[in-house]
Amino acid sequence: MSPDIFSVAGSIPSSCLHDIFRAAQTQEERTGTEVVKLHVGEPYFHPSDAVAEAFIDAVRRGDTKYTGPEGLTPLREAVVDKLRADNAVDTEFSRVLISPGSCQGLAALMQSLAEPGAEILLPELHWPVHLQQSLLAGFRPVLYPLGPDFRPDPEAIAAVATPRTRVLLLNSPANPSGVTLDPEVLAAVLDLARRRGWHVISDEAYEHFCYEDEHVSVASLERDVPVDERIVHSVFTFSKSFAMTGYRLGYIALANDRAADVMKVVQEANVIGTSTPVQHAGIAALHGRADAAATNRKLVQRSRDVALSPLIEAGLLSELPAGGWYAMLDVSRTGLDAETFAMRLLARTGVAVVAGNGFAMRPDLDDRGRLRSFGYAPWARHLIRIAFCVDPAQLELGVQRLVEFVDECDGDGQRHGIHS
Ligand SMILES: Cc1ncc(COP(=O)(O)O)c(C=O)c1O
Repeated sequence: MSPDIFSVAGSIPSSCLHDIFRAAQTQEERTGTEVVKLHVGEPYFHPSDAVAEAFIDAVRRGDTKYTGPEGLTPLREAVVDKLRADNAVDTEFSRVLISPGSCQGLAALMQSLAEPGAEILLPELHWPVHLQQSLLAGFRPVLYPLGPDFRPDPEAIAAVATPRTRVLLLNSPANPSGVTLDPEVLAAVLDLARRRGWHVISDEAYEHFCYEDEHVSVASLERDVPVDERIVHSVFTFSKSFAMTGYRLGYIALANDRAADVMKVVQEANVIGTSTPVQHAGIAALHGRADAAATNRKLVQRSRDVALSPLIEAGLLSELPAGGWYAMLDVSRTGLDAETFAMRLLARTGVAVVAGNGFAMRPDLDDRGRLRSFGYAPWARHLIRIAFCVDPAQLELGVQRLVEFVDECDGDGQRHGIHS
């Protein structure tokens, strides 16, 4: 018999994303029918030919050796140009690190900032991976309340912070709410973090998917601050803007030189370096970025505008998300909790969505940072997340079936009293 695992990792359950992913896969295997997949943020559009060619050329000419933990210099230089021109972030390539996906970049960043007993502030509605990464890095996550519109409020953040708080995480445009943060909110939160001596992690994976206002990088608000005093570490990805999900490529713009040096050590230990041909593909993506990002944003925006309207008419969505790839629906009128709703919808209609309570987990930790138990925020009980970056025909079909299912549940509810 193998020994039991009492580590922090051993105490973390799989996320709601993983659970529905598995359930959808099992259903496809069992029924032989393809599921309508509204549960994953996988775009229906593809990277440009130039990206594929740069990757293949690098492989063909044998440019396949290790790079250092910081990544290829020409890619880091291209990142600096992009950050200056598009994000108003003033940095140098010495403070930019390439990572195999921004998920890995975030995990490494948390590892490089974690100290025993230190707390990280996460939004109470968050991407579950942020919570998993915080725990694995050794942080004690503390969830900060959001307003009714899922926006952070500096006073509410200050109220849950403690002397052990080290890091505040921001995610705009947000997964799963689609909320985008304006410069006023960002400036107020940054001011709080600066006064309290915190680091800020800014996850900007969906930077190119803002439908109402321009994206604002919080690091742009400290461009006039001396580099040594900067506190914002910004994390970006090629997955969303350029549909390069399976290439696994992201980058981190560290606030200052010390943080960049620490990250190099963490990345050496974690990955040695990022795939070299993939980095060449990244250079090509950045060269063609203006066209690709604008085209991809328009595609997703069209889907949002066309396919999500029936959800508003059905009273399941209050307004179109301002950014990102996801919409949070409120299915409380069915009387079903989110997990039951997601499982029944999948079984009866073949549409996969994610139960929203999994984005609002409330962990209870023991003194060694392991999960002793967990619950969910009660207000998330009837929330469902759907991805609208998927094939428009599939999206329309999925939305149609979902609305019909809700109507049927209403009928069931009246017949069987499930609203009680
Ligand atoms: C908020 C957020 N950050 C980061 C990522 C990670 O993306 P990747 O690792 O593909 O760069 C995702 C992926 O879904 C995400 O939703």
